[in-house]
Amino acid sequence: MFEKIKSIVVTKSELQNKVSDLAKQISTDYQGEELILVGVLKGGFVFLADLAKEISIPVCIDFISVSSYGNSSKSSGVVRLIKDIDIDVTNKHVLLVEDLIDTGLTLSYLKELFKTRNPKSVKVCTSLDKPAKRLIQLAVDYPGIEIPDKFVIGYGLDYAEKYRNLPEVYELSLEKHP
Ligand code: IMP
Ligand code: MG
Repeated sequence: MFEKIKSIVVTKSELQNKVSDLAKQISTDYQGEELILVGVLKGGFVFLADLAKEISIPVCIDFISVSSYGNSSKSSGVVRLIKDIDIDVTNKHVLLVEDLIDTGLTLSYLKELFKTRNPKSVKVCTSLDKPAKRLIQLAVDYPGIEIPDKFVIGYGLDYAEKYRNLPEVYELSLEKHP
C-alpha cells in the first residue's frame, strides 16, 4: 500500500483552543479533588502532555497501553491490554485521556476495567471524535473536536507507527499505486 498525506483536517490553533477549553473545564470540575490523568498509549501522549500543562490543579499522571488496530487502518474490534498503570486509583477520580474515539470499543473496555478498581469516578476526555463510526454507546464527558469519517494521522495518531509527531491532523489515503 502506498500512503499519501492529503488535506489538513484539524489545525494547530484549533487543537490549542480545544485543549485550553478542556483544561479549564477539568480544572474547575475537579477543584479540591484527587485526580489521576490516565493517558491511553500510544496515541494519547501528545494530547495528554498539552492538556496536563494547561490544567491548573494538582494531578497525578499515568499511562495505560492497549491495542486494537495492529498495523492496519481498520479496527479489529479486539482490545488487548499491553501495559497497565502503576498508581492505585482507589477512591480517586480517574480521567482517561485518549487521542481519538472511533468505534468506542477501546474506551468502553477501559471504563469497565477501571470501574472494577473502586475509583471515585471514571470519566473520558478525547482530543478528537469520529461519532459516525460508533459501535457502542459511550458517554464522552470531555469531548474534543468532531471530525468526519476519514482515516487521520498526526497529533499522536499513527499509521503503522508513523506520523505521530505531526502537530496538526491530516487525512491519510491508502492507494495501491503511487
Ligand atoms: P476505537 O475504535 O474507538 O476503539 O478507537 C481505538 C483507537 O484506534 C483510537 O484511540 C486511535 O488510536 C485508533 N484510531 C481510530 N481511528 C483512527 C484514525 O483515523 N487514525 C489513526 N488511528 C485511529
Ligand atoms: Mg488511541
